[in-house]
Amino acid sequence: MLRMIVACDRNGAIGADGDMPWRQSTDLQHFKHITSGGIIVMGRKTWDSLPGVLPNRRHIVLSRGELEGVEVMNVEQILKLENAFIIGGGEIYKLFLDKVEIIHRTIIDTRVAKADTYFPDISGMGFELIEEKYTEAGPRDDHDMIFQTWKQTGTDNTKIKK
Ligand SMILES: NC(=O)c1ccc[n+]([C@@H]2O[C@H](COP(=O)([O-])OP(=O)(O)OC[C@H]3O[C@@H](n4cnc5c(N)ncnc54)[C@H](OP(=O)(O)O)[C@@H]3O)[C@@H](O)[C@H]2O)c1
Repeated sequence: MLRMIVACDRNGAIGADGDMPWRQSTDLQHFKHITSGGIIVMGRKTWDSLPGVLPNRRHIVLSRGELEGVEVMNVEQILKLENAFIIGGGEIYKLFLDKVEIIHRTIIDTRVAKADTYFPDISGMGFELIEEKYTEAGPRDDHDMIFQTWKQTGTDNTKIKK
């Protein structure tokens, strides 16, 4: 099963200048909790933005080039994986949105002024909100956040945007 995990602001912004536009420790813990023990799949630019390999997770990167020190796969190979999480960024979310069964989406309660990368609009794509939890900012968070889980119901696949 393929799942997706993302943190975006109220406009869908996910990035600015190759990085995440907030400091949100509680959401990083949430990301760790959900993805630990699994496979994380990311675009080359997101790979470049990581401080290093994240513990206890197999890393797979999408790139049209050759990369050293990390596993590279194409889309067809990734679609055959079990228990994998699509972790971004913008290009890779678009590529897999109509292939995932579950989306873990954190809404960061802000609107970033100078964002340059966005999560796609999922409305009308067959996803149903099955869980939602509002969480106030902790001492190492810039903003309050809402943890959401969306499930693909498969009822209106005809509306999937390519
Ligand atoms: N808020 C969040 O949850 C979150 C999560 C992840 C990332 N981000 C942010 O998102 C931004 C990066 O996103 P992005 O859209 O610029 O880049 P990206 O999706 O991380 O990576 C794009 C790269 O992926 C490779 N790629 C794309 N399509 C491919 C395909 N069909 N086959 C093979 N390789 C393919 C290409 O690599 P090559 O150029 O090497 O060919 C392309 O340049 C950063 O600001 C990052 O911090 C935010």
